[in-house]
Formats: sequence, structure tokens, C-alpha cells
Amino acid sequence: MQDGLFIGGVWETTESSFDVVDPSTGEVFASVADAGAGDAVRALDAAAAAQASWAATAPRERSEILRRAYDLMHERADELARLTTLEIGRPLAESLGEVTYAAEFLRWFSEQAVRVGGDYRVAPGGDYRIVTTRQPIGPAYLVTPWNFPLSMVTRKVGPAIAAGCTMIIKPAEATPLSALALGQLLADAGVPDGVLSVLPTNRAPEVTTALIDDGRLRVLSFTGSTPVGKKLMEQAGSKVIKTAMELGGNAPFLVFDDADLDAALDGAVVAKMRNTGESCVAANRFIVHESVSEAFAAGLAERLGALRPGPGIEEGSQVGPLIDERARTRVAGLVADAVERGATVRVGGKAPEGPGYFYLPTVLSDVPADARVMREEIFGPVAPIAAFPDEESMVAAANDTEAGLVAYAYTRDLKRALRVGEALETGMVGINRGLVSNPATPFGGVKESGVGREGGYEGIEDFLEIKYLAVDM
Ligand code: SIN
Repeated sequence: MQDGLFIGGVWETTESSFDVVDPSTGEVFASVADAGAGDAVRALDAAAAAQASWAATAPRERSEILRRAYDLMHERADELARLTTLEIGRPLAESLGEVTYAAEFLRWFSEQAVRVGGDYRVAPGGDYRIVTTRQPIGPAYLVTPWNFPLSMVTRKVGPAIAAGCTMIIKPAEATPLSALALGQLLADAGVPDGVLSVLPTNRAPEVTTALIDDGRLRVLSFTGSTPVGKKLMEQAGSKVIKTAMELGGNAPFLVFDDADLDAALDGAVVAKMRNTGESCVAANRFIVHESVSEAFAAGLAERLGALRPGPGIEEGSQVGPLIDERARTRVAGLVADAVERGATVRVGGKAPEGPGYFYLPTVLSDVPADARVMREEIFGPVAPIAAFPDEESMVAAANDTEAGLVAYAYTRDLKRALRVGEALETGMVGINRGLVSNPATPFGGVKESGVGREGGYEGIEDFLEIKYLAVDM
């Protein structure tokens, strides 16, 4: 298990370190090197030194490196899945699913690396030619969250490598080991020394400030909370560093009166319970037509109540713990607030006995619009349901938030699906589907949920700069 800093192709130890905790037991299981400002600048020295030669490599060469990394991820799938399960407690089967998801970003961008285009046009006056090309923007700072410790790294590393950018990865404090394992894997796949550094740290503001203030960084790609994203945008703005932000959500899940209720319930379980609800695309508010709301609440309570929480490493566990005690206290507070305001607990509503940061899958019905659970991102296994009389009020309720990442809608009416899909103020909409995430699609939000898109044809753009050549004839 790699537990050092990875700078310029070399593993290093540090004097200070920080602990990594297994949230299903609350016990420390590893200790990791703690990068500071000086380490950050050394990583940027390595990235800046490697940038020109890396940008000059053939796209096919970068593509083959990504493809080898994809193969290696599958070869090391069990080891990687176990590591992420230790870090976030999630069931092993789900972690294996994340390995596949993460590897797909590498495969997708290995295919995109050789498809970066330009343009050749005659100027309107006919006197010269307009030639455009796309060049790597330069050293990138990739700040990744703990909830998907592998795929949130490969979603940024894949396009950065494809584009020809060097990079520094700063993984979340809770999940540094997965990112370090990926650092080794990418080096084994052929990423040259200096192109990619990994800096675990317990001092994120110090490391980030050192990198931004240095002046050599060209892009900052962040996935995490909206408040932190806003702060990073401000900081990066002071040096005119390009930012790509994938921030918080508050996903509405709409069930219309004509929906296939069984399909809606299946989709709701996926949209709510994937990763224990610790996802920015997790269904946050269930907005259900009043004619089906009781059947939906009863069905969801039955399905969520049947799920078995337990340490992910143990066979048969179906729901992992929350990431830490603070997260569990927050989720419990949201449920208590909703109940105080008149919501009914249909199932769950408390933490189970025993070690770890578990919280029982919970369904709340008759939740008022002003309950915190409807307005804040839950990031936990709690499903609040509210009933509405018609399509207009359902869409209005769905859009009544500053967040705009994803929405889900269940209806059998194609016209309604498209009408509602267009009216929802989000970057993504799942129509009769509880899962939209896919490396081949543009993932991202509007409003306060972020700027830019990751994955798809669009995901490489954050790492490219357009160069225009005016060629006199
Ligand atoms: C996230 O929670 O930040 C991303 C989840 C996903 O890619 O599905």
C-alpha cells in the first residue's frame, strides 16, 4: 500500500503524517504522508519542467498509456475495490462497480486523445486564412472528493493526459490511499516522471494557496461542495486560472401520476442508495403526484427497510456507513428537523446500535417544503417525500433551489417527459432512469452546481486552449 507523497515519479516520506479511518469501525487503519506548501511547489516544479515535452508526445502515445492504465485497473480491480471499501466502508460489490466506472474514464479518454480537432477557414475578406488548433492548457491542479475515491480522480486525470497536460492530484483527506494507488498504476502504465504527482494532505488550504499563488498553474478542476468551490473560484480568479467546478446538488426525483410505479421505485432505490446516498447526484427530494404518493412512500419504505447495513468488507452488507461522525450527526439533525416540522418517519430514522458511522435507510413522508432536508444536500440514506397536485407545481418545486446538477422524472407520456426535461433547471435529467452517470456523457450542472462538463466529448475541453493562427495569403 503506497502511503507517501508521489512527486516527479519518486515516492517520498514526510515528517508529519495523518490517519485514515475505516468508517465502518471508527478505527485508524493507515497513516499517510502529509504534504505542505513546499511539497506543493516541488510538485509544480516537476509539472512545469515536464509540460513542454509531455505536450509534444504523439496523441497516440498518450492514448496507449491511458489504455494500458485501463487494463491495469481491471487487473488490480480486487485490490483497488478493497482499498476504497476500507476508506469509505461501502460494500465490496459497489466498490468493484466503481473500479469499472473509474476505468471507463481512462478508456473513453484514450479514445478521445486522438480526436482533438481544429479548423481551417477563409477569412470573410478572402485575404487570409483562419487556422485554429487546440493545445494543452498547461499544469493542472485536480482536487478530488472522498465519495468516489477512484472515479473522481480518473474523470480528471483521463482528459488531462489525453490533452497533454501535466497535473497535481490532491485527494480528499479521508481517501488518500486510492489516489496513491492510482498514482502508482498510472506510472506503471507509462506516465513519465513529473507529469503526474499525488499530494495527500491534511493541510489543503496551505497546499492550494501555494499552488495558486505560484503563477505557473493553468487550470484548477475541483469536485466537492459548493461553498469550497466558490472559495476556490475566488482564489483562482486572482491569478486568472481557468476553473472547472463540479459542485453540490439537490436532485429532485419527480414521479407523475402516469408513471410505472415499480420502475420508479427501482429507480428511486438506485438514485437514493448508490454509495449510501453520498453522491452529488443522489436523489435528494422526492416530488410525487398526490394520487400515487402514498403507494410510492409505502413501496420505498419497504425497499429501503429491507436493505442490510454493515461493514462493506463483510459478505451480505448492502449499505455502508457515512464517512464520519460529523456526517452522521448532520443527517440525524436533518431528520429531526423534518419530524419537528410535521414529517412522518416511514422507516429508519435513527442510527443502528454498534460501531461505525451507520445510519439506517430512512423514508420520510409529508415533508414540508421548508424542512432543511428539502433545501440542503443530504449526502446520506434519507428519502424525503412530498405530494403535489399537478405537473406545474411539481416542476416549480423541483426548480426551487440554487442547485442545478441533475433531476429525475418518471412518466409514461413522451411529450411530458420532453416538456419536463426541458423545463427542469439542471445540467442532466434522468428520464425513467435513476442513474445518469456514464463516462461517455457530459456530466455537470447549472446554477450553483458548477461550471463545465466532465466526461463525454466535452470533458477534454477544460484541459485545452484554442490557438488561432492568422495566415496571410
Ligand atoms: C459525485 O458524487 O460527485 C459524482 C457521482 C457520479 O459520477 O456518479
